[in-house]
Amino acid sequence: MTAGIDLIHFATSDYELGLDTFAKEKNLDVNKFFDGIGQEKMSIAPPDEDIVTLAAKAVSPILNKIDKQTITAVLFATESSVDQSKSAGAFLHGLLGLPNKCRVVEFKQACYAGTAALQMAISLVHSNPKENILVIAADIARYEQGSSGEATQGCGAVAMLIKQNPRIMIIEQGSGYYTEDVADFWRPNYLNTALVDGKYSTKTYLNSLKYAWDNFVEETGKQFDDINNFCYHIPFSRMTEKAHKTLIKKANKIISVKTFNQQTLPGQIYNRVVGNSYCAALFISFCSFLDNDKHNLEKNRFGFFSYGSGCVAEFFTGVIQTGYQDFIMKDSHLQQINNRQALSYDEYVDLYYKQKIDGANIVFAKNNKGKYRLEKIENNIRKYEIN
Ligand code: CAA
Repeated sequence: MTAGIDLIHFATSDYELGLDTFAKEKNLDVNKFFDGIGQEKMSIAPPDEDIVTLAAKAVSPILNKIDKQTITAVLFATESSVDQSKSAGAFLHGLLGLPNKCRVVEFKQACYAGTAALQMAISLVHSNPKENILVIAADIARYEQGSSGEATQGCGAVAMLIKQNPRIMIIEQGSGYYTEDVADFWRPNYLNTALVDGKYSTKTYLNSLKYAWDNFVEETGKQFDDINNFCYHIPFSRMTEKAHKTLIKKANKIISVKTFNQQTLPGQIYNRVVGNSYCAALFISFCSFLDNDKHNLEKNRFGFFSYGSGCVAEFFTGVIQTGYQDFIMKDSHLQQINNRQALSYDEYVDLYYKQKIDGANIVFAKNNKGKYRLEKIENNIRKYEIN
């Protein structure tokens, strides 16, 4: 029996801020963003869009293809939690009318948590092949205005149906891990924006990649040449280039520019225009690869590097299944990306930084154009609506 990703779909918000608009406002050379960090746009979530509504948008097309009564668990990974106690998955469970015979839990370890949820789901399926698990990775990346991270914001949610004999990708057993207690990026409970030591965080990312890779090779015996394509956690797309160069050096390899690009570029197309989506970023990169690579990927082995600041990292692999092309949801991905409304810098500031959530009752202005939205907070209870 095998276990893996049977269906995968991602969602993002209805608004975007171009980094050309951002650069103009800040009086900076736009090439710092387009070339230097490799980002063109960032998805902006208005106050009535949160990780729950993004997740509902991501899951919905998957539920349209299956009997939702068969879902046995919702494992929700995020670092933009909406509550310190109740999991975002419990709100989602209600919003989507999932069966009561179901387990729901939230996972947290910065951007790594999506991988933890995925691996937990894979183990559950191996121990009980009747499990049909929804793994959700959803985040809204928010830094302080004027900080180095401001240009690397964004948002997104990925939903994956994890089950036996999957139609898109088998997740292979055996992976490499690395954990170290570092202060590269974090968000204290009293802040709604993350704090980051930007340069140090890129250093700890690359350092973790080297250790996780060593552990992966030791555990699995697989080598660089056993892997066809690579998806990395993408805080900004140039990080993929830095990571792949680091891995190639670590594995003592020399590869052509053409091979380098084939191994990594298709996985950056969506992230370049969505921005950082923390837990979701690695899996949006995978969607980007599936949707945009011109080659037939059947039987290709993907290497995934998951990094969560703080920090925990994992390198793992999966193999694409024959006929995967019939199950990818490219049209929906492109439609969402292309239909976003462009914001001016001032509109972005209004939507992103002005709304205070401090315990008072709030009825949110209607900006979220999707089916699921956060309508209000009443007596400290979040109320969602379906349009
Ligand atoms: N034309 C072309 N390139 C230019 C340029 C121009 N006009 N101006 C600058 N650049 C280049 C620089 O040379 C630099 O390239 P290298 O990285 O190759 O040196 C790049 O653009 C960035 O320029 P700076 O270093 O001057 O930019 P910065 O000081 O604004 O910081 C950053 C960049 C540290 C990544 C910042 O965006 C940041 O703090 N981001 C948030 C933290 C982050 O994403 N960390 C990533 C690892 S941690 C992680 O992955 C977890 C997570 O999701 C947060």
